[in-house]
Amino acid sequence: MKQLIGKTSVRDNIELSETPSYPIFRELYEKQKKAIWFPEELNIQQDALDYHALSPDEKDLFDTAVGYFCSSELLVQNVLVNSFFPMLSDPHAKMSFSTQLFMENIHSDFFEIVLQSFNMDREKMYKVAFDDPILKKKMDLIVEEIDNISYGKIDPDTLQGRKDVLRAILINNIIMEGIFFYSSFAHFFALKDMGKMRNVVSGVELILIDESLHLQNGIEAILIMLEETPEIVDDAQFVREIREVILKGTYLEIEYVQHKFDNKTILGISSSELERYLKYITDRRLEELGFTPEFNITENPLRFLQKEDVKKLINFFEVSSTEYTNY
Ligand SMILES: [Fe+2]
Ligand SMILES: [Fe+2]
Repeated sequence: MKQLIGKTSVRDNIELSETPSYPIFRELYEKQKKAIWFPEELNIQQDALDYHALSPDEKDLFDTAVGYFCSSELLVQNVLVNSFFPMLSDPHAKMSFSTQLFMENIHSDFFEIVLQSFNMDREKMYKVAFDDPILKKKMDLIVEEIDNISYGKIDPDTLQGRKDVLRAILINNIIMEGIFFYSSFAHFFALKDMGKMRNVVSGVELILIDESLHLQNGIEAILIMLEETPEIVDDAQFVREIREVILKGTYLEIEYVQHKFDNKTILGISSSELERYLKYITDRRLEELGFTPEFNITENPLRFLQKEDVKKLINFFEVSSTEYTNY
């Protein structure tokens, strides 16, 4: 029986079918294709005055978020290429995930332009996610886990191998892209709410749309794997560990925002509001994967993320037909 994940060779999967085995990946490919944008279309340089007028706390928050994304966009590329991409057996799924890879280039390119436009310290920016002890814990969760389950180290035709692939997709597309990234998006959107850095934030809004699609790629791949290998769900301990690692990611992010905000209100937001927001998006991620929510927070506590213009943007790119776009 055909499976989404398995051993592949260069001879395999070189024919597209009119009736795809996984229509969702053709749909997600089309949605990502429609969402493609180019950073040169934004006038990032126009934010230079705003940038230099940020208070030290605001600037630190902005710089750290930019630095975090500079290395994380490339980390996502690494994870996709080195872990599960070679084991994707379906041509439409490959098209969808390779479009995600292309979009990560656009994001890297965007943050490069931000670095250059504001004369930021390149070396410091690319190291920030590893120099900051709490950000490093978040990076370690991704890097150390994925290192153990890279292609060549696991056999995707065994039950254990399939569990490992599922965990790699979860850690990359759900925890990193669907929780860690969303938390940093909130920092940028808070800037926009204060009327600052509008052009940069426009780019981040476009990245949010893209990331919501990458989150969908991950969720759909996981749900398909669970359907094809129901033994994974029968392993109660594995299912418990999956829930636990999602919550581990959430608590690392909460630790980070508490440390970063240190009881201060920056850009009109506090760490307790961000903590509530993180619990809200974690509940959504858990539900999207078929778990019961952990925190029972049903309303997005960040009012500026409920604004009509963000919703309009999501609708414009027609990416709102599922609930996975919860931000
Ligand atoms: Fe990205
Ligand atoms: Fe992404």
